[in-house]
This record gives sequence, structure tokens and C-alpha cells, in this order.
Amino acid sequence: KDNDPVERLLARMTLAEKIGQLNLLAAGEGLKTGAGHSTPLASRLDGGQVGAIFGTKSRASARALQERALAGSRLKIPLFFAEDVIHGHRTVFPLNVALACSWDMVLIEETAAFAAAESSVQGLHLTFAPMIDICRDPRWGRVAEGPGEDPLLAARIAAAATRGFQGDDPAGPGRMAACLKHFVAYGAPQSGRDYDNASMAWEDLLSLYLPPFQAGIAAGAVSVMVAFNAVNRLPMHANEPLVEGWLRRRAGFDGLVVSDYTGVKELSAHGLGPAPVVVARALQAGIDMDMVGEDYLRELPTLACNGLEAPEAGFALSADRIVALIDRACRRVLRFKRQLGLLDDPFRGLDGRWAAPPRRTGRDLARKAAARAAVLLKNDSLLPLSPSAPVALIGPFAADQANMLGTWSVLGRAEDVVPLHKAVAALTGRAPRVAWGANIVDEPWVQDRLNVHGVTVTRDPRPEAELLAEALAAARAADVIVATVGEAKEHAGESSSVLSPELPAPQRRLIRALAGAGKPLVVVVFAARPLAIGRIAEQSDALLYAWHGGVAGPEAVADLLFGAASPSGRLAVSLPAHPGEVPLSHAGDPTGRPFPGRFAKFRTGWLDLPDDAPRFPFGFGLGYGRAAYGPPRLSTPAAPADQAVELRVTVQNTGAVETIETVQLYASDPVARLTRPGRWLTDFRQVTLGPGEVREVVFPVHAGQFRYPRAPSLDAVEWLRDPGLIRLHVGPNSRDTQTVELTWLT
Ligand code: IFM
Repeated sequence: KDNDPVERLLARMTLAEKIGQLNLLAAGEGLKTGAGHSTPLASRLDGGQVGAIFGTKSRASARALQERALAGSRLKIPLFFAEDVIHGHRTVFPLNVALACSWDMVLIEETAAFAAAESSVQGLHLTFAPMIDICRDPRWGRVAEGPGEDPLLAARIAAAATRGFQGDDPAGPGRMAACLKHFVAYGAPQSGRDYDNASMAWEDLLSLYLPPFQAGIAAGAVSVMVAFNAVNRLPMHANEPLVEGWLRRRAGFDGLVVSDYTGVKELSAHGLGPAPVVVARALQAGIDMDMVGEDYLRELPTLACNGLEAPEAGFALSADRIVALIDRACRRVLRFKRQLGLLDDPFRGLDGRWAAPPRRTGRDLARKAAARAAVLLKNDSLLPLSPSAPVALIGPFAADQANMLGTWSVLGRAEDVVPLHKAVAALTGRAPRVAWGANIVDEPWVQDRLNVHGVTVTRDPRPEAELLAEALAAARAADVIVATVGEAKEHAGESSSVLSPELPAPQRRLIRALAGAGKPLVVVVFAARPLAIGRIAEQSDALLYAWHGGVAGPEAVADLLFGAASPSGRLAVSLPAHPGEVPLSHAGDPTGRPFPGRFAKFRTGWLDLPDDAPRFPFGFGLGYGRAAYGPPRLSTPAAPADQAVELRVTVQNTGAVETIETVQLYASDPVARLTRPGRWLTDFRQVTLGPGEVREVVFPVHAGQFRYPRAPSLDAVEWLRDPGLIRLHVGPNSRDTQTVELTWLT
């Protein structure tokens, strides 16, 4: 202990100084002061009552805060600086759900690494990312920020993004600490309502929602943020069994745990008791830093003296125990600062020593990423378009810049986005005819709620009939219509749940009108969640799901429309056939109905939806090449459980352009001790195939891949594996697969 700088520092700290380290504040107005006045943040810094700050907007402001903190801290303990660098910093990459559709872990790692390089030269040490919440309910607005619906894909993304942010060392030049969030099951709120609670079988928590966290920890992530919601009735900010229990003891995480914004305070609104009780519970649960609410700062001094007896809340902690818990949390904060190199170099990233990465490099990467993220859902031999074809570009996103950045693009600038009409003109040498066509939404109260964070959603006040007439005139004068529809930036993200995940009504009416114009119709969807777009698929000749593609999103769309890039995105989320068909995923559970041959009416599903499959399945996407799969072959049809087996499949590009194919392997377990999902993703490989090229893809298969939990409680988890039959399904998406059977003999 004597040689450990953290322990030496801790031994010299007063209780008040330790509590100060647990306070994580927003930069807000920073140090801006009128003569003789101090902002609340400045007075906290002067009192040594701040451990870290998030939301600084420049290196200069962070530097000023660090200087003030060092001056106010008797032991000169530096702050660390954090920010929500979710999908890029100044260079905004596509939304995370869009990046997930690339299924390309190298690309995801590269985008995170670039974001870290841009952020760290601004003095940022920690990003509140990657967000790795699995989501199967597109009503939830934060599906935009996450890795999609599948735990295996999400786990690989968690690892790739963590590697990208941190490299080998989060204190290395151009790197920053990653924060896995939101722990846990934040993506499973009831009815998709943000912040609502998640209730589920422990088996589902263990097999769906925890694996991405396990993977992020294995990749070295040094911090975790807990979620606002409760899981099975215990709010995560007070959830000792999951935070200290699963996360630290079971998964071996030994980094820093931070609260979400006022999450400790909100435990009172969850019904856990008044401020002293919820503070003690959060601290005991393992929440090391209290973000914004300042309840640790207010309550812990008294709690550390008197302890807590709260029989009405069924909770008590002795003063000694509280002091020990403060030490534990403070030790973790100091270790984190040491790991970031800040105890030796408080001005790391703040002294201008590191050069920012070239913006051009970032833009090129952003353009490539946006092209890789877009998913081509339909193409009746229309795309790619000829650059000489006269095009009418219609809809509220044809000239859009701000919405393209997507939610959580804190430092992104709308003026950095080249709008689609200009991108098309630059690529083809012809300016397309542009018409607005429809407002994004028609309900004024929704419009008001979308006008936040400095973005005003444009609205054309003319009557809809006039907008449609203008759009049809532009359509008639062109050879091809490209309709641009979708969601505004703030349609998704935090607190942006919707009742009905579909295109807003005025835009649906626009597509209907354009479909009747007698011209080939390409629809490009700029959305942030999986929308039910079945009707639009029927009305269009080609359909491209482009998401909010970031700073170079529209340029990437132009590349794809005119063949400068070939689509290769594959859905990381199922697209529903109907907005009421949620939650949904490719890995739904089987039920007993229909029972073969009888009870035709008595089936699981909806009376008013003929087929309850998704409209576009998980893993689906088209390209300009064409991949033909040979029959899958197993190295053996039956093997003992300790034997490695191989599954081989050949894939040929029978098209005329290079294509990137994502070969997907799913499994199902027809006889098990518990009901297993109908099928689930087990592995995938990505191959690039030139025209005519054939490649053999080899999947190693081993018995450990088919383990599943049985867990009557979190303390009684058993991982099971059944001998006998496993079915393996290989193909280009979760629906269009070929099956082979493998028997585990033991
Ligand atoms: O990191 C975010 C979190 O995802 C939602 N609440 C606010 C935090 C800090 O900005």
C-alpha cells in the first residue's frame, strides 16, 4: 500500500475531499462570471468539491476548469473531462444503429478511434459510449444509439468500439476511456417508453442484455454507466446484486461506475425513500460517482457521521460502513484518474501537444461508413441510376443538413453536411429538380417537441395540396423520382419514444401521390429507428434505408444511388410489417400454437396481420452484386461435445460488381430443457467478392456456443447444454437460410 500512489493519496484526504471526488458535474455555463460573481460550478471547484466534469465544448474551457480545480484542491487532484461522443465528435459518423448495419467490426473500431482522436485533443478523457443496449422495440427512441436487436452482434460491437476508443491504453495519445452504458436492460422498457422499467426472466437478462457488457469488459472497458430504469423492480442505481454482484464479482469489472444524470436523486421518485436513504443505497450498490444531482455531496457528510436507520425503507447502514463505502468509491475514482495518466499529467490533452487528426480523413471515413451502413431493401432493376438520368429529388430531406447528423451529435455542425441535392449535382454534374413535397410532421405539438437542441425543424406553411402539386410537377418533368422521407433528428434519442413506429402521415401521403405519377420511384428513408414501411416498399421500385448518416450521409446516398458505391448494409434490427407488431426480433420464442393440423384460428399473432413475420428480416440487405450460396457442409454430422466441428459453405458473386457479403450462421435447439428462441445468431463472417469470385467460408462450431442459462434467481444461475440435435442455418439473412443438422453425442 505504501508504494501505491492512490493509497498514499487516499490516506492524506479528509472525508470532505473524498466526497468531493464523487461529484460529477455538467460544465453548463462553466466559469463565465460577471464582476465579483461566481457560477455554482466555480464555487464547487474552489471548494475542492468536484471530481469530474462533462460537456466542456473546447480545450480552452476545459483547461480553465482544470486550472481552477487544481487551485481549489489542497492535494492538487485533477479533474477528468467526459462527453457524450456517441457516433463521432466534430466529425459525425452514422447513428450507431446504422453503423451496426455494416456488421463490420474494423469499420466500427476505426470510427471510434477517429472520434477518440478528435475528442482527446480537446481535453476529453472519457466518452459516455459505447451505448450497448439491445433493443427489440422500435418505439423506444434510443434504439438509434445502440447496436440493434441481437446479443452476439452487440457483443462484437461493444468490443470493437471499446478497442477503438481505448486502443491498448486509454491514456495513450489520441485515445480515451470508454464507458459501457446503460447497465442494464435500458433498451427493454415497458411499451418502449423511455425510462420505464424492465421486467423479464433472469434467463433473458443473462442471455440477451448482459453479454454485450461482458464483451466490453473483456475488451478492457474502464467504466460503466448505470441505467435509469429498474430491472425486475429494483432500480439500477440501487441494484447491488447486479452492479456489485454481477458486474464486479461475476464479470470481473474493476473500473469506475458512474450514475446517469440525476439518477441517484431519481431513486426517490422510484419510491425508495428520501435523499439520505437513496444516497446510502446507491453508494452501497456500487455507484461511485453521482452525476449532476449532488446528492452525495449534500448527504454523505452527515451519513458518514451518524449512519442511517430507515426502518420504513427496510434499510440501515452504520457510520463506519458508510465511511468504508466512501473510501471504496473514492479509491475507484482515483484509480481511474491514475489509469488515465492524470495524476502524473493533469493537463493531458489540454496543452495542445497533440495534433487533431485531419478532418479530410474523418470525412472520407464518415462517407465510407454511411455507405456501408445504408441498407438496400428493394431494387426492381432500377438502381444504380445513370448519372445522366434527369432526377426529381422530392421530400423534406432533399436539402436537409441538421437532421442528417442524428441524435447525440453534440459538437456536429449542420454546415459540415453537404445536402443530398448538392451531393447529387457534384457526383453527376447535373442539378436535380428539388421539391419539398411534405412537411416532416403535421401535428404542431410534435413539431414543437422536435425543435430542440438548437435545431429547428423546417416547416412549409403552404397547404398540403399545394406542396403535393409542386412535387408532382417536378416528378413529371424528370425521368426518375427520388423521394426523401424519414424522421427528424429529435424524433429519436433520449425521451423520444413514439406510439407508432412508422413514417409520419404527411410523408406517407407524399409517397402515395408520387407512386401514382407514372415514373420510376426510388424512396430513401432517413430514419433513426426501424420503421414499419411495408406499404412504402409496395409503392416504390427501389427502397434504400439510409438512416441519419452523419456528416457525409447524403454524399454516401448519392454514391449508392449512382453506383459509385455498392450497398452492403444488413439490418441489425428487424423492420416490422405493421407498427403494432412490436416488440419483435428474429429470435422470437416459439409457442404451442398453431398446433399442427388443427386450431387454424388459434395461432399466436394478430387477426389483422396476415403474417406476423417482420416485413424485412434481421440480417437482410441487397447489393448490386449477387451472392449465390452452395449447400452448407458439416465436417461431421455427429460429434462428442469436446470435438471441434466445422461448417463450410461456398459463396459466389454471380453479379457484375464487387460485393461485400455478410454470411450469417443461426442455430436452433429443437429439444431443450427450457423453451429456446426459434433461432438465434451464432456467428457471421464478411467476405468481399469480385465479379464471379467464389469463396469458401468456414465456421468453427463447438458445443460451448449452445449453452443457455437456467436461473430461478440471480444467485442460482446454471449454464446448460443439451446433448442431441442442433440445427444450423446458414444464409444471407435470418430468413433465407439452408439448414444442416448436427448431433452432440454427449
Ligand atoms: O450519457 C448520457 C446518458 O446516456 C443519458 N443521460 C445523460 C448522460 C450524460 O449526458
